Amino acid sequence: MAHSTDSGHPLLEGLLVDLTPFDKRFVELEHKWENGPAAFWGDMGDRQFFTRDHLRSRRERNAAERENDSSPAVTFGIQTKDSTPIGLFVVAYIQPAFRTAILGAYIGEPEYWGGGYGTDALLLVVDYAFDWLDLRRLWLVTMSLNARVLRQMDKVGFTMENRQRNATLADGTWYDIVMYGLLRDEWPGRAAMLERLNLWPRAQATKG
Ligand SMILES: CC(C)(COP(=O)(O)OP(=O)(O)OC[C@H]1O[C@@H](n2cnc3c(N)ncnc32)[C@H](O)[C@@H]1OP(=O)(O)O)[C@@H](O)C(=O)NCCC(=O)NCCS
Repeated sequence: MAHSTDSGHPLLEGLLVDLTPFDKRFVELEHKWENGPAAFWGDMGDRQFFTRDHLRSRRERNAAERENDSSPAVTFGIQTKDSTPIGLFVVAYIQPAFRTAILGAYIGEPEYWGGGYGTDALLLVVDYAFDWLDLRRLWLVTMSLNARVLRQMDKVGFTMENRQRNATLADGTWYDIVMYGLLRDEWPGRAAMLERLNLWPRAQATKG
């Protein structure tokens, strides 16, 4: 695994994607992504419009909160192996006293959905959160309509811990909000998960 802080250079290297600093390339795409189809799924059915000013002040507010340590978070950009920025991954609300954090992710470019990119990124982030940040519990929420996330949770071994019935409205229909959690003890490590999910580097996969 490579570690670098140069813009666009991978911090965490996966099979299909690399996680990089959330640099200017990602900031420039945020307005498109936050107003595109990914936002509907990421915001549990909400269809809001975000201005560039709103996004800028949100970034500034988040940065200030991080500086005060009131809400530490780590944000990665997700890029493909040819360095195309496709989304973001955040480890947020890190609570040092309890060693817990919430995960949030979206791939802003829908043509990459369902191709394994998100799971590749998730395996990197979970490993990072447990091994580097020394967290002991990760959790996330999504709406029950979000079949890709539900499938991902199942594949990666998260447990559904809570279901709030009819809690969110997406395009006129009520859906449940589901919460998933993963404890460090339950995580076999990224290498074991890659093996379990039968995921291999592209070159090796085509050879085999
Ligand atoms: C959530 C997200 C990051 C997942 O990444 P991804 O690359 O799409 O996910 P993956 O391809 O790794 O895994 C998704 C799984 O769901 C399956 N899937 C895809 N579409 C599906 C559908 N309509 N119904 C059921 N399963 C579906 C995929 O086949 C895959 O399972 P498999 O590996 O067994 O084939 C990405 O879809 C995304 O950004 N979506 C929009 C924003 C969002 O939902 N964010 C999360 C909010 S909690």
